[in-house]
Amino acid sequence: MHTSDKPIGVFDSGLGGLTVARAIVSSLPDESLCYVGDTKRCPYGPRPQEEVRLFVRQVGAWLERRDVKLMVIACNTATAAGLDVLQRSFDIPVIGVIEPGARAAVQATRSRRVGVLATEGTVASGSYERAIHMLDAGVRVTQAPAPALVDIVERELAEGSHLHQDWMRNREIFDTPEVRSAVARCVEPLLGKGIDTVVLGCTHFPLLARQIREAMGGDVRIVSSAEETCREVREILERREELSNPESVERGVGDEPSYRFATTSDDITSFAVAGRFIFGHQLDSVEHISLEELDSLVATPKDYQIAED
Ligand code: DGL
Repeated sequence: MHTSDKPIGVFDSGLGGLTVARAIVSSLPDESLCYVGDTKRCPYGPRPQEEVRLFVRQVGAWLERRDVKLMVIACNTATAAGLDVLQRSFDIPVIGVIEPGARAAVQATRSRRVGVLATEGTVASGSYERAIHMLDAGVRVTQAPAPALVDIVERELAEGSHLHQDWMRNREIFDTPEVRSAVARCVEPLLGKGIDTVVLGCTHFPLLARQIREAMGGDVRIVSSAEETCREVREILERREELSNPESVERGVGDEPSYRFATTSDDITSFAVAGRFIFGHQLDSVEHISLEELDSLVATPKDYQIAED
């Protein structure tokens, strides 16, 4: 298979990365995609970095076997813990979502006061602060850990049965008093600091963007890494001359773009229902990945002391 016909690999701890996958297929409609949601081990946010790093290596190894041409770690927590190790491990380009998110925030802010809403793992890593300061050392960054919001998104979406209807009617399933007050609690540390831009430092949070904007009040801009990540994917593929070529499909040489999904969840149906809600297209092909299979690719050391080279 010619490299340009290979899929882009995308992964997250669960469903959140589908917000990035959706943006990729809408800006690059000729590209094929292979998405992994490590739902069984979600959330990654509260786990030690070494453990998340191991998971990143395992899922990365799985995707590499699927012969992807580029990998996107569509999870901030996983990016903070393991982007460097994947970049060192593979010959294909691997990108994360933190640098694109930081760029979006620096471009958007006028007051040069930026809030970061993320998981506790991402906050503790300090990765956003570093990435923002690489671009503008004068930006004041305030971080707020918001693990409750990951739980809300995964729980609401896992319940599943109402999603078909709600999606069809385009209703806002997260617009409940319980969600609004959880969001209000999480954004508290960001209030009263002159922040004009909040970066959604977790790929689950774009689903709660409206509630976050309302809780922040005023004209606060809410930015996510999705668009900047897509731009980076396009630039890398263009530079490497690996963008999928629709003309080869027309000539009958290449394949139509395909979207494949895999999850460690035991409940593929719920994953597909919730996934459709986020991805905006039917998830026609969803396969199950067992943790044993991931362990067979990169074994779990008992103490998580992982050799890196
Ligand atoms: N979607 C993940 C991120 O972007 C967070 C979810 C989790 O805690 O696993 O950080």
